[in-house]
Amino acid sequence: MPSVRNFSLVKQERLTEDVFQMELKTTESLSEYQPGRFVMVEIPNGLQQLRRPLAIAAVDLLTGCISLIYRVVGQGTEQLAKLVVGAKVNLLGALGNGFNIQNFQVGDQVLLVGGGTGLPPLMYLAQTLGQQGCLVTTMVGFRTKAQIFGTQVFEQAGQLQLATDDGSAGKLGNVGTLLNAWKMNNCRHVFACGPLGLLKAVQQRFASQSVPVDLSLESRMGCGMGVCAGCMVSVNGGTLNQHICQEGPIFSAAEVQL
Ligand SMILES: Cc1cc2nc3c(=O)[nH]c(=O)nc-3n(C[C@H](O)[C@H](O)[C@H](O)COP(=O)(O)OP(=O)(O)OC[C@H]3O[C@@H](n4cnc5c(N)ncnc54)[C@H](O)[C@@H]3O)c2cc1C
Ligand code: FES
Repeated sequence: MPSVRNFSLVKQERLTEDVFQMELKTTESLSEYQPGRFVMVEIPNGLQQLRRPLAIAAVDLLTGCISLIYRVVGQGTEQLAKLVVGAKVNLLGALGNGFNIQNFQVGDQVLLVGGGTGLPPLMYLAQTLGQQGCLVTTMVGFRTKAQIFGTQVFEQAGQLQLATDDGSAGKLGNVGTLLNAWKMNNCRHVFACGPLGLLKAVQQRFASQSVPVDLSLESRMGCGMGVCAGCMVSVNGGTLNQHICQEGPIFSAAEVQL
């Protein structure tokens, strides 16, 4: 069974108009909070009965903290944004399969592609791959300059390529624009997380290439543990249905039907 734990909120920071970062502290082991995994967050004050899924954006073993970065889109995330330092936050998990990066080596070239609230899991991935000595290039897209967050993490981990829909920062366009200009070289692996359109663009861009591509999917989630069947996705040419919460959220682009 996944763990259920109370964390203490030690920091709540506004990153953009509607994106917040929470730092949550525990005295227990953080070994299960691996890149690509997620937690189901209990929404305080009992208004929302269902927990909400959020990706793990960072883990700091020295301080015993994990970071969650979330956009306020509805009642659940609105309640999270009201929490103040000292509040108890109850998390179920870590859940899901996570990114399979154990065998990556120093000098391996890796491409990350993300947008919007798909960035938090890629932030943790970029940091981990950078520490493993991989050469990490990250392509990120935002609508406009005011919505940018998290880019320092990607710059610290390697190279950042940025695009905005209105050209107010980086290249004018979206990640599709960046992908079109991308030269393969010796890329070992591609990872992507973001809106459906972005995932489809990545899937299409690399469909005829031999480089492995993993996509981190999102969906509404009731339980996060494979019980409610609210998060199914088709794989293997539509012959098999799998739970995004349990067999995912990371799926091979060659197998998943978007
Ligand atoms: C594995 C996983 C990891 C995630 N990680 C993050 C993260 O790191 N940061 C982040 O900001 N969000 C993340 N999400 C999305 C996040 O779970 C939802 O935004 C959140 O549950 C919305 O809750 P709410 O009560 O505020 O909004 P609700 O009132 O539940 O919904 C408000 C609006 O948002 C839409 N919506 C809600 N959830 C989703 C979803 N999963 N996909 C598409 N539309 C949705 C609804 O249709 C509705 O229009 C993740 C989702 C999954 C499945
Ligand atoms: S969210 Fe319930 S089965 Fe996946």
